[in-house]
This record gives sequence, C-alpha cells and structure tokens, in this order.
Amino acid sequence: MQLRTALPAALAVCLGTAAGEPPDFLHIPTGTPLDLSPRPGEVLSPAVLDFHRTGRNRYRDDAEAIAAGRLIFRQRCSFCHAYDGSGGNAPPINGTGFTYATSAEDAGMFSIIWGGGFGAMRSFARHGLSQDEVLQLIAYVRRLAEPGPERDEARRDAAIGGGAPR
Ligand code: HEC
Repeated sequence: MQLRTALPAALAVCLGTAAGEPPDFLHIPTGTPLDLSPRPGEVLSPAVLDFHRTGRNRYRDDAEAIAAGRLIFRQRCSFCHAYDGSGGNAPPINGTGFTYATSAEDAGMFSIIWGGGFGAMRSFARHGLSQDEVLQLIAYVRRLAEPGPERDEARRDAAIGGGAPR
C-alpha cells in the first residue's frame, strides 16, 4: 500500500512537468507569463484545459488531430519552415535540437507559437489560431521528427519544392 502512494510522488519528482505539474507558458521575447485566457469567440477544449494543467498534449497520438495539424501547418507555417519543418526562412523544427531549449517540450513549443518569438515568428494568438489548433499543430510537428508516414510525405513534398522557397 505504501508503495502505491509513494510511487506517483517519486515519478513527479523525476519527470517534472511531464508528470502533471502545471508547466510554465512564457513569452519568449520578454520572459513574462503568457495570457492563456480564451480569445473572443474561442472555447477552450478539454484538450486545452488538460494541457494548461499538465503540459500533456493528448493529441500527440490522435490521428484526426494530427491530420488537422498537417493542414494548418501547410497553410500557416510551411512558407517559412518548409513542408518537412527543415527551415529555409526560419530555423528547422523537425529535429530534437532547437534554438530555444523550451521548444523540446510541448509547453515550450506552444509558447512560441501562441506568443511569438523574435522577428518573423509572429504570435498566432493574434493571427487567427485557437489554442486547440496549436495543440493539433504540435502533434503534427512532432511527427516530422520521427520516422513514419507523415515525415516521409513531408520530405517528399519539400523535395519537389513545397513549402519554403529555397
Ligand atoms: C513568416 C515566417 C514564419 C512563419 C509563417 C512561421 N514561423 Fe515559426 N519561426 C520563424 C522564425 C524566424 C523563428 C525564429 C524566431 C526566434 O528566434 O525567436 C521561428 C521559430 C519557431 C519555433 C521555435 C524553434 C526553435 O528552434 O526553438 C517554432 C516551434 C515555430 N517557429 C513553429 C511555427 C509554427 C507551428 C508555425 C505555423 C503556425 C510557424 N512557426 C510559422 C518564422 C516563421
């Protein structure tokens, strides 16, 4: 019995935010907390509310959400980051090394997409995306970093000139 109660606490210490602690959502340029309150007309989905509380993106293994993220990525991100996330007009986001170490965690990647970075990386909170769509996007972007059909397709399309001009 004792083990059962001790184990979650031990896991929480080891895994930090991954184990369910509310993560930090910080504005990259200023380091100040981001405003995660709903935009006008936005309804925070259960996935978003869960993400705020735990940093866990439940769309990471959700095929429908990944497909939706793919569409948004192609429409809103590929011009700068290329279809396969390899960059061009922006840093690559299809690997495990990032300009901002925080991008390796979903809360950090969410923060730069929602709040913006420096220069051309605008705040998509102010450019028409919902927080739910950002979670879908992240689920897709993570697929570009691992072997699988999404990465194969994106590489093929980038090679024939999709996404960022090169
Ligand atoms: C107009 C060009 C442009 C568009 C469109 C754009 N980005 Fe960016 N992105 C950038 C630039 C430039 C940076 C580097 C910003 C910085 O250093 O602060 C960046 C940085 C990032 C980073 C952080 C990378 C790291 O190494 O830490 C992520 C993640 C990201 N973008 C995702 C996206 C997603 C997802 C979209 C679509 C919703 C998008 N970007 C649309 C230009 C763009």
